[in-house]
Amino acid sequence: MTVAALRSKDLVGIETLTPDEITLLLDTAESMRSIGQRPIKKVPALRGRMVVNLFFEASTRTRFSFETAEKWLSADSLNFSAKGSSVEKGESLLDTARNLQAMSPDLIVIRHASPGVPHFLARHLKAGVVNAGDGAHEHPTQALLDALTIRQRLGRIEGLNVTICGDIAHSRVVRSNIWLLTKMGARVTVCGPPTLLPARIEEMGVAATTDFDAALEGADVVMMLRIQRERLGAPLLPALREYARVFGLNATRLKLAQPDAIVMHPGPMNRGVEISEEIADGNRSVILNQVEAGVAVRMAVLYLAASEPGAPTDG
Ligand code: CP
Repeated sequence: MTVAALRSKDLVGIETLTPDEITLLLDTAESMRSIGQRPIKKVPALRGRMVVNLFFEASTRTRFSFETAEKWLSADSLNFSAKGSSVEKGESLLDTARNLQAMSPDLIVIRHASPGVPHFLARHLKAGVVNAGDGAHEHPTQALLDALTIRQRLGRIEGLNVTICGDIAHSRVVRSNIWLLTKMGARVTVCGPPTLLPARIEEMGVAATTDFDAALEGADVVMMLRIQRERLGAPLLPALREYARVFGLNATRLKLAQPDAIVMHPGPMNRGVEISEEIADGNRSVILNQVEAGVAVRMAVLYLAASEPGAPTDG
């Protein structure tokens, strides 16, 4: 059954989406892609709507692609950074959000280091809330842009073997990707050192291994994740050089995957650690295609969230 709208005013994670909602988001993103190829990159779809970008954590790709998406859809944007705001004087997250809500935004895009913050705001605010990454929990628009990239390059998601390697324990990208890829019928294998593989991760419907070479055999998609040094509470790795030797993707290792396998990375990359220079910049890499897909996906998310049955509409 196809659906024409999302069930919620918020996009807080992939976990709660149905496969039909994921397909709707990807199909809408596909139809939005052509906007970026026009000489005048603007459509009136969100004219008169206001979006607040509330970033409490660093970002390059997510933040700028949301801002680009908002401009291309003719929305009015307010950009908030914790630095330079009254958060520095001790104002709470909820008070900050309530004050922004008083300015009548239609949507709030939030990135925060604490898991669950988008869900908390979604419960308290009238505006639709879009999760742009919450701690090590979810990064739903990243998983959607990854899925769009896979679909564009390989024509489908169902039945593919996807290997994800790196810091599985601290990655919101992997959690959202596992929800999305398994809902859409892919087989997912996660791989990393034992200290960075969460216990019972198999309960999410994936295979788990510490043997990267075995995980690469027959893979259609190889997704590399960075070591999240900022989230490592204690030294969990002996040395980055040793990590690169055992878990780094290089040309020799990539030969274990399917001959047409694509290589993905959400960024930012640690070149020479989880991925070699030649693979990052090689012809199997779709890393910059992911960034391009990110703008289309964020246009689709903003458009569908603003069109949600409970959201205000034109006229
Ligand atoms: N992939 C991703 O979330 O990148 P940024 O942290 O630069 O937004």
